[in-house]
Amino acid sequence: MSGQTHAEGAELLRVTDLVKHFRPPRGARRDGPSVVHALCSVSFSVGPAETLGIVGESGSGKTTLLRTILGLQKPSSGQVLFLGEDVAQRRGKRARALQREISVVFQDPYTSLDPRMTVADILAEPAQIHRLTAGSRTAVTLLDQVRLPAASLRKFPHEFSGGQRQRIAIARALALDPKLIVLDEPVSALDVSVQAEILALLNELQRERQVSYLFVAHDLAVVADISHRVGVMYGGQMVELGPTGQVITEARHPYTRELLAAVPVPDPQVERAKPRMLQRQWPTETDGLPPCPHGDVL
Ligand SMILES: Nc1ncnc2c1ncn2[C@@H]1O[C@H](COP(=O)(O)OP(=O)(O)O)[C@@H](O)[C@H]1O
Ligand SMILES: [Mg+2]
Repeated sequence: MSGQTHAEGAELLRVTDLVKHFRPPRGARRDGPSVVHALCSVSFSVGPAETLGIVGESGSGKTTLLRTILGLQKPSSGQVLFLGEDVAQRRGKRARALQREISVVFQDPYTSLDPRMTVADILAEPAQIHRLTAGSRTAVTLLDQVRLPAASLRKFPHEFSGGQRQRIAIARALALDPKLIVLDEPVSALDVSVQAEILALLNELQRERQVSYLFVAHDLAVVADISHRVGVMYGGQMVELGPTGQVITEARHPYTRELLAAVPVPDPQVERAKPRMLQRQWPTETDGLPPCPHGDVL
């Protein structure tokens, strides 16, 4: 956790009233809903060199949020501005520029790295895709930044541990000097001790390079460890958003309190004294939250 504050008004990313509906395929509609509300009026911003952590259980809309920000899918309504420019409106050169400015790290380092490519090729690929000869970092520099030896260059992904593979994925994400890195459950597949090493690395890289992170996980302890601010997603809505310390000490939403109760505390006395949320009380439209649009509104 960090007490760093950010100049008001300085922002890299602004998400406003983002809504994304999916229509399940025809065959699946008979018993299920006719529309899945994956994102319901989500709004937030990310500042320079800031980490915004987003926590929520599986199906709460986290990956949909990231895919919409990356411009991989269009929002049903609402807007994603990156450096003041609408991501969904970017075409051609501007769309390719966005891919350099925002990079991504996925959960599973076993499938996100091509097993047939050497580390040298993996790290050279972003510059090749964008036909950049200058301005991108060399593979050795990138490896050094993620604390891997230069001898790794000739090796293939299967020769590395899960944590080392995620270091390679982070090195690839740094290749084009992005302003924002979007991380979708980047440590969820790793052991707790390796998780801590990767989180420490991400913190160091942020201090060195002033890069911003949008960091998504289902584990509040992990998100709280790395984030300046935390947003809590439930059922496609951002039910809580604030500085990390405040979200932890003054959680106002029952789902956040349930997440907090699920975080293990090393002291057994504290652990026993923690309130247990046995009964789920999910948000209603009277909680002061914007209601999720219902019905076939596509
Ligand atoms: N392409 C899609 N088509 C239909 N439904 C989808 C699609 N992508 C996601 N969903 C639905 O949207 C909701 C949110 O999913 P997702 O964003 O993957 O959540 P999370 O990453 O938090 O687990 C889920 O109900 C999921 O089934
Ligand atoms: Mg997901």
